[in-house]
Amino acid sequence: MSYLENLFGLSGRTAVVTGAARGNGRAMAEALLKAGAEVVLVDRLADVLDREVALLIGQGLAARGVVCDITSDLDRQRLFRELNRIDILVNNAGVTLPHPWLDYPPDAWEMTYRVNLLAPFELCRLAARRMAEQGRGSIINITSLNAELAFPDNPAYMAFKGALRQLTRSLALDLGGKGVRANCIAPGYIRTDMTRASWSDPAREQARAARTAIGRWGIPGDLAGAVIFLASDASAFVTGHDLLVDGGWSIKGL
Ligand code: NAI
Repeated sequence: MSYLENLFGLSGRTAVVTGAARGNGRAMAEALLKAGAEVVLVDRLADVLDREVALLIGQGLAARGVVCDITSDLDRQRLFRELNRIDILVNNAGVTLPHPWLDYPPDAWEMTYRVNLLAPFELCRLAARRMAEQGRGSIINITSLNAELAFPDNPAYMAFKGALRQLTRSLALDLGGKGVRANCIAPGYIRTDMTRASWSDPAREQARAARTAIGRWGIPGDLAGAVIFLASDASAFVTGHDLLVDGGWSIKGL
């Protein structure tokens, strides 16, 4: 095995990626597959998931799709019953439901909580139990610049992304001795369905590109290197870390 395969290679490992039918999740699933892992792509969008999994299998990659609403306890239990092992969990599925603060709707708060924090917590627990038995595992939670910086009219998204970041540190601390690592990837603005309203409007598109040091929007493929690094032995001594993939947004003063 080559030096790079030893460090970054994922053959023999099984990964689960949530929200993998499109966008960031789809790109990270493909990256893990190409690094040699078997990947279970999880999403609630059955038709899109089937189509994308068929495309990946057509490329000779070891992809499998499981239709699952991660907010359903029954669905989560079923997902884990179907897994022989799990070495990598990427909690990527997320929603953003912006609305002004003073009349932020309780159902939007509840939905954001259930998808962006409660489901990742329950999936972390299911995965970490298995990983601790196996003596090895890597959990990667997808946060956001919103975990640290304030953005307008999105209190629930900010609150639960911030909480997910702290939850990851808590998991890293409590399970580090059992071989389980837990880290975050915090993407900046990435061109996906979630951010369509911003990148399809030229003025907003430009404003966000100018806010980065690199001068452009991210694309889902920009997350590939980060997810392979955190999933693989290349990051064997990295846990509780928040890896910003934001084109330098967070370091830019002027
Ligand atoms: P997206 O909306 O394009 O894709 C999200 C995927 O998650 C969809 O396929 C959707 O069906 C799935 N999903 C949502 N709720 C689900 C549920 N209950 N059960 C199963 N699947 C569910 O979003 P995007 O942009 O790809 O975002 C992925 C992650 O990256 C999210 O956690 C988001 O908060 C985060 N992120 C995205 C940024 C961006 O600029 N696009 C920036 C920072 C973070």
